[in-house]
Amino acid sequence: MSALNGVGSRTVLITGAGKGLGRALALELAKKGHTVIGCARTQDRLNSLQSELSDPNSPSDKHLFLSADVRSNGSVEELARVVMEKKGVPDIIEGFLSPNDLQVLEKTRSKSVARDLKTNIKVVPVNNAGTINRNNRIWEVPEEEFDTVIDTNVKGIANMLRHFIPLMLVRKQGIIVNMSSGWGRSGAALVAPYCASKWAVEGLTRSVAKELPDGMAIIALNPGVINTDMLASCFGNSASGYQAPEAWALKAATMILNLTAADNGASLTV
Ligand SMILES: NC(=O)c1ccc[n+]([C@@H]2O[C@H](COP(=O)([O-])OP(=O)(O)OC[C@H]3O[C@@H](n4cnc5c(N)ncnc54)[C@H](OP(=O)(O)O)[C@@H]3O)[C@@H](O)[C@H]2O)c1
Repeated sequence: MSALNGVGSRTVLITGAGKGLGRALALELAKKGHTVIGCARTQDRLNSLQSELSDPNSPSDKHLFLSADVRSNGSVEELARVVMEKKGVPDIIEGFLSPNDLQVLEKTRSKSVARDLKTNIKVVPVNNAGTINRNNRIWEVPEEEFDTVIDTNVKGIANMLRHFIPLMLVRKQGIIVNMSSGWGRSGAALVAPYCASKWAVEGLTRSVAKELPDGMAIIALNPGVINTDMLASCFGNSASGYQAPEAWALKAATMILNLTAADNGASLTV
């Protein structure tokens, strides 16, 4: 059996793939034979991820890593354009095909190939990029820090949805995962901006779920508590007592790959 272990080939787009959960998930999915499109702002980290995936079993040109800032609508628009341009190729893309692409494809390829493309391949965008405020009571949080948390965690996802959902609507297929948090379902002192942003992610997800056609799904995912730079920012040294991103990614990849349209609007936990 192939490394795909019975799950059809997926193209998974992960924002914030440079480190932490996004990086671990990218590596795990690539190991399982899926195609990863990753973005983050820091090019060095993307380069390191790209070279880690450059082995004979996972050719580097299969994956695509692009620098993008999810806070910027223009940057995400450009990301969507480049993804379409570079990955708008028939063997791995389903949701990103434009109607015109599909017509051309059906004329130039055998019917069976075109049929496989329409039925077997799914795109799974994982809106994972995020940031947290430094531990502080709300009246001590500088305005620009509050803005950065909201711009990244909430507006960043909105930017992704604005530019990627229309591409997915063409085939009315695809699962969107919005990274939430336990703190998107409860309150905590010193991280009020972050909690506010993750509650917004939950509300955004449930509302967009009502706008998507049958066949598509958007879900909010609480990943649990994992030892990353973000956790160290709020938990300090005790972050090292929590699970490693690699252990988390084993469970998360399986869960994400098994999501279906029936999960639309759900708030799930890894
Ligand atoms: N770790 C946990 O225990 C935990 C718990 C609950 C929820 N979460 C959520 O899980 C997600 C990942 O968290 P993590 O712990 O892996 O955090 P992390 O280690 O700090 O990694 C965050 C990633 O997001 C990227 N990023 C940040 N701002 C960005 C922007 N404006 N545009 C594009 N990429 C950006 C970062 O890369 P650049 O800085 O290079 O852009 C980095 O790759 C977040 O949404 C977080 O809220 C984590």
